[in-house]
Amino acid sequence: MDSDFKTKFETLQSRVESAIDAHLPSATTRPPLLHQAMRYSMEAGGKRLRPVLLLAIWENLGGTLDPEPAAVAIECLHTYSLIHDDLPSMDDGDLRRGRPSCHRKFDEATAVLAGDALLTHAFALLGRAYSSTPRIGIDLVSELGAAAGSTRLIGGQMEDILAESSPCSAARLRFIHENKTAALMSAATSMGAIAAEASPDRVNTARSLGKHLGLAFQIIDDILDATGTPEELGKNVGSDVASRKNTFVSLFGINAAREAAREETSRALGCSRQLPDESGFIADLARWMQHRIK
Ligand code: IPE
Ligand code: IPE
Ligand code: MG
Ligand code: MG
Ligand code: MG
Repeated sequence: MDSDFKTKFETLQSRVESAIDAHLPSATTRPPLLHQAMRYSMEAGGKRLRPVLLLAIWENLGGTLDPEPAAVAIECLHTYSLIHDDLPSMDDGDLRRGRPSCHRKFDEATAVLAGDALLTHAFALLGRAYSSTPRIGIDLVSELGAAAGSTRLIGGQMEDILAESSPCSAARLRFIHENKTAALMSAATSMGAIAAEASPDRVNTARSLGKHLGLAFQIIDDILDATGTPEELGKNVGSDVASRKNTFVSLFGINAAREAAREETSRALGCSRQLPDESGFIADLARWMQHRIK
């Protein structure tokens, strides 16, 4: 990893860590068990890719409004989706971000409620933080709400579950990937542009960038589930085969999956060239995501 890229990535990641601490209720807030569970999952680390992307786009587009509440909102939304994804009735994952998953550390009811609370907090935070620029606030809320809703992230999760146990079509797999994962990645990049008060054209370019990054990201996630270790990934591996999921690897094999990730990354790079990515950080991040091992 290029050292300038690494430094920039780590700087943005630590900005996200402090913003999370600043914008979440304290662990002693009543009821403490719920707030501990929310912080347990949020503070377990994770790559922080979505908020890092949001901050990087905002910076490139010369934003002046505070982007941190939007960055925290998207990480809250993402973390809720992981807590619920790991529930026994969903993927039944007992390891997440290198620790017991939320329902294993606490219990199922607490994990469901911690997920609900993070989801709700994301929108309350946006509403409160951007109330003095209501146009931006409403656009951020709509963008995140649409990406996270029943036709996008949740719809993708629904079809992911419905498609378990027998091979699905390539078109259905595409629907699952575009929605369960690329929708939120795309909201990260478009919300960065919205928070920077960018033109509708720029917001669209940012949205496409996130979509291609998200598609590449989920293909790599499918590859890592088949080839990685729990130590590297901090989560269960082999779970897609065990639960007979449809993945890029199960339908097309590892080599075709790598080729598809390369193609989506190159589409993402095409979008990044239409943005003022002077430092090249976004392009480097896209390449890092393609070759990541965690
Ligand atoms: C995992 O996302 C869920 C998928 C969409 C594949 P990440 O790999 O970004 O998880 P964290 O945030 O780093 O834990
Ligand atoms: C999860 O996809 C996508 C969301 C949580 C919305 P996966 O089920 O493949 O994610 P991992 O592999 O458990 O992280
Ligand atoms: Mg899943
Ligand atoms: Mg899962
Ligand atoms: Mg996976």
